[in-house]
Amino acid sequence: MSQITVTGGKPLKGRVQLKGAKNLVTKAMVAALLGDSPSILKDVPQISDVEVVKNLLTLHGVKIEFGNDGVMHLDPTNVKSAHMVDIDAHAGSSRIPILFCGPLLHQLGEAFIPDLGGCHIGDRPIDFHLEVLRNFGAVIEKQPNGIRISAPEGLKGAKVSLPYPSVGATEQVLLAATRAEGITELSGAAIEPEIMDLIAILQKMGAIISVDTDRVIRIEGVPHLSGYTHRALFDRNEAASWAAAALATQGDIFCEGARQPEMMTFLNVFRKVGGAFEIHDDGIRFYHPGGELHPVVIETDVHPGFMTDWQQPLVVALTQAKGLSIIHETVYENRFGFTDALVQMGANIQIYRECLGGTPCRFGQRNFYHSAVISGPTPLKAAEIRVPDLRGGFSHMVAALAAEGTSLVTNVQLISRGYEHFLQKLTDLGADFTYTE
Ligand code: EPU
Repeated sequence: MSQITVTGGKPLKGRVQLKGAKNLVTKAMVAALLGDSPSILKDVPQISDVEVVKNLLTLHGVKIEFGNDGVMHLDPTNVKSAHMVDIDAHAGSSRIPILFCGPLLHQLGEAFIPDLGGCHIGDRPIDFHLEVLRNFGAVIEKQPNGIRISAPEGLKGAKVSLPYPSVGATEQVLLAATRAEGITELSGAAIEPEIMDLIAILQKMGAIISVDTDRVIRIEGVPHLSGYTHRALFDRNEAASWAAAALATQGDIFCEGARQPEMMTFLNVFRKVGGAFEIHDDGIRFYHPGGELHPVVIETDVHPGFMTDWQQPLVVALTQAKGLSIIHETVYENRFGFTDALVQMGANIQIYRECLGGTPCRFGQRNFYHSAVISGPTPLKAAEIRVPDLRGGFSHMVAALAAEGTSLVTNVQLISRGYEHFLQKLTDLGADFTYTE
């Protein structure tokens, strides 16, 4: 278990380079499986989620070359079934394997998907995914260590309606429908920028997909897709994380590769809290302009709302705002576990079962602590913290960097699931820490 000893109180200042979004790149890699010729994906970050998907694709016969320049070559021309034990070795390491279903069914007629991993921020069921696949004609068999899926008569286009605009289930539909026979109409789709980028990739491969109004996506199935060449959309979650780190440590961070259009909702909130930013051609500069930070009321939501992945790092900055901030988490039912450590560090945060944002959400009256009230400013003091998950872990690091004194943060390897060269970036930003494996 790797750990960091951090001495806080030093503003983070400097530049960080963003690569492609974790939540797009991994799916783009899976999309390459659908092609009958090689694909080239650019700006691929070196993070462990990419490593997991790379290993799973390799097990299925995809030849992958991935250099330090962030360019990945994926050759799917010899796709084959993988041994169950080898696939099972990846159980619990990521949520992406569920997206292998459609491409493997098209290529091989069957798929075995191990038990999923990912952050523990709620139940994270896969019922929408399984229902979508059944709509396309897949047969699903639950097994002790995963699920076996087959499509004896091939996948057929279908009318699909999602009960909630799930990112993963929308991707499931896209990856299953592009080569299914006939037309698919998906209503209630997620429309996150990462999904739009996946659609752009599929279109490059030969797919016919239109995004209509009101969360409707129409896909006309085609029998073959070719490979693609694509530069991945930048990681807006990483940009928002460093922005919050700049604010919480009174710093100044230039996020190279960040773009305004995909970050507008975040930028509005950042400005309301009292942060400043400058939009440049090659990135966005986020900084603390001096003066007091202001409290805000936020409800996390699907795009174009305020992303759930942005709230954890921002909460740390809000502990320094003068007054009461409220965050109503409406995407995941259990995403405030990370606040315990912040309270231990001196933050004043209370979590509630009620929907405190103004709009009742599907978690109201269901015993989920999904609203938080943060009262500030409260100085943060050093503590011993164990990183619980990816975004919560990043926020703990930010809290330790903002706190007075020396903190011990353990389990930090979890952060490398989603943040490339995390320790190098901290060093470049002037953080005062030592790392032990
Ligand atoms: N849901 C169901 N059933 C399903 C699928 C989802 O009930 O079959 C529920 C979930 O439990 C959750 C909500 O629907 O309450 C939204 O989940 P969604 O499917 O949209 O999330 P996901 O695809 O599993 C991706 C990102 C998350 C990000 C969410 C929301 C990846 C690998 N993960 O998850 O990213 O928070 O979309 O934007 O793309 C992260 O990067 O730290 C992270 C957790």
